[in-house]
Amino acid sequence: MNKMRKIQVFDTTLRDGEQTPGVSLCTEEKLELAKQLSRLGVDIIEAGFPFSSKGEFDACKAIADEVKGVTIAALSRANQKEIDLCKDVLKGAERSRIHIFVATSEVHLKYKLQKSKEEVLKMAVDSIKHARGHFDEIQFSPEDGGSGRTDPEFLHQIVEAAIDAGADVVNIPDTVGYQTTQTFYDLIKGIKENVPNADKAVISVHCHDDLGMAVANTLAGIKAGADQIETTINGLGERAGNAAMEEVVMALKTRKDYYDADTRVDTRQIYRTSRLVSKLTGIKIQAHKSVVGDNAFSHESGIHQDGILKEKSTYEIMTPDSIGLSSNTLALGKHSGRHAFKNKLDELGFNNLTEEQFQKAFDKFKDLAIRKKNLTDRDIEAIVENRIFVYPQVYQWLDFQVQSGNKSDAMAMVGLKKDNSKVIREAACGKGPVDAIYHTINRLVGETYKLLDYNIKSVTGGTDALGEVVVRLQKDEITATGRGISPDILEASGKAYIDAINKVISKRSELENGYDDGGEDFGKTCRKG
Ligand code: KIV
Ligand code: ZN
Repeated sequence: MNKMRKIQVFDTTLRDGEQTPGVSLCTEEKLELAKQLSRLGVDIIEAGFPFSSKGEFDACKAIADEVKGVTIAALSRANQKEIDLCKDVLKGAERSRIHIFVATSEVHLKYKLQKSKEEVLKMAVDSIKHARGHFDEIQFSPEDGGSGRTDPEFLHQIVEAAIDAGADVVNIPDTVGYQTTQTFYDLIKGIKENVPNADKAVISVHCHDDLGMAVANTLAGIKAGADQIETTINGLGERAGNAAMEEVVMALKTRKDYYDADTRVDTRQIYRTSRLVSKLTGIKIQAHKSVVGDNAFSHESGIHQDGILKEKSTYEIMTPDSIGLSSNTLALGKHSGRHAFKNKLDELGFNNLTEEQFQKAFDKFKDLAIRKKNLTDRDIEAIVENRIFVYPQVYQWLDFQVQSGNKSDAMAMVGLKKDNSKVIREAACGKGPVDAIYHTINRLVGETYKLLDYNIKSVTGGTDALGEVVVRLQKDEITATGRGISPDILEASGKAYIDAINKVISKRSELENGYDDGGEDFGKTCRKG
């Protein structure tokens, strides 16, 4: 019987995804996401581009040291200095992969690199040879090589040379999202058929979404014989983003009959991962987005509802369960003890908490169970996600009071703990209660922040639902996302603001030492927001 192909999933949310305009994650956030990606079951996590800054180096290293059960990759341009830096970064990885890239299209050669094809080919070969023996795997990408803007003969030549030099994986990026499904299929098929040693390496595809075809092109690449896909959660990425992992993976799972290919991803972790990425980055998921949008499994019209009640498959081609969305069932209440809480966490997949993390989550759970009668699985997830990953915190939220109405300005009083010892209190007015809280906090921390974005959402239904607030703040060139949850939306707003301020402070110290970017402008060479 024909054995189904296993497609490797190379997740680049932390590298290409983090190049989304306005997104910048600190080390702790990257670590949190990398751990979830490992739980999700991706094969490779691209941790970042270590040469771009000290903060990026540290984050990649922390991921390589701490995140196990998955290959960790780091990006490098085709030069020895950057490759050597990646050696240090990936030393602690269970399995390491260097991802070396150099541009190959006419337009990049002429304007960006000002180099000839021969020079670029030599750079690729020399750098792959230099990397040999220092990493478990070597991946090479001809940047802009899959967009149709690289001379096909040169593309075949450089792919062949890269494999000869020692590349285990050759990734073909449609860097600018220019391809159509047919042209991309032909390009990948062309490589498989015309590059004599193509069968000695894994051929990978990396598609951008400028024309909305990243997912379709990725699937076309698989059809043409690619055995690795490069994707991001929620389709984050430069400009219009990259191919969305959850869409490609669910397309393969749902249409096995057509693709005859599958992945190792535990699809029941998809929903949680998607929400985590949205929370950490502050980038909302549109309601009607495929697979993970709020409306993806809701049925509005009477005819559809009637059909669903009679037989789900009338209008559902995949189940909410399959992406981990089903259990919004009653979970626990204030009488539930540590044992029941632990069982619930295990069931939800949070089975590797330290004792300290568990205790923090349990304390928060008890606290909330008193304020909200019945806690659902979604509530428990929100508590844990918010509680167990503790960032360096200069300020801690203590308490607040607000007076507001429609006849006068609102007034807030806020108490914070500074450096885990000193309690500080202030009061200030604002146009509404949230504005008043934020003015008070600015006063307490002695700085004013620009509020770029403010979002509020209820974690579950009901008037006593937990409110979740996500804010994006800017201070000078640093941006940070903060989140807060509470049954009181004003408290959630204050907590989210403090969370973001703590991250700005921690990023400021990460930014102190930046590396020289070598002159070539590549993405966010210095993490400045
Ligand atoms: O889009 C692109 O070309 C890239 C490369 C670095 C692989 O992200
Ligand atoms: Zn890319």
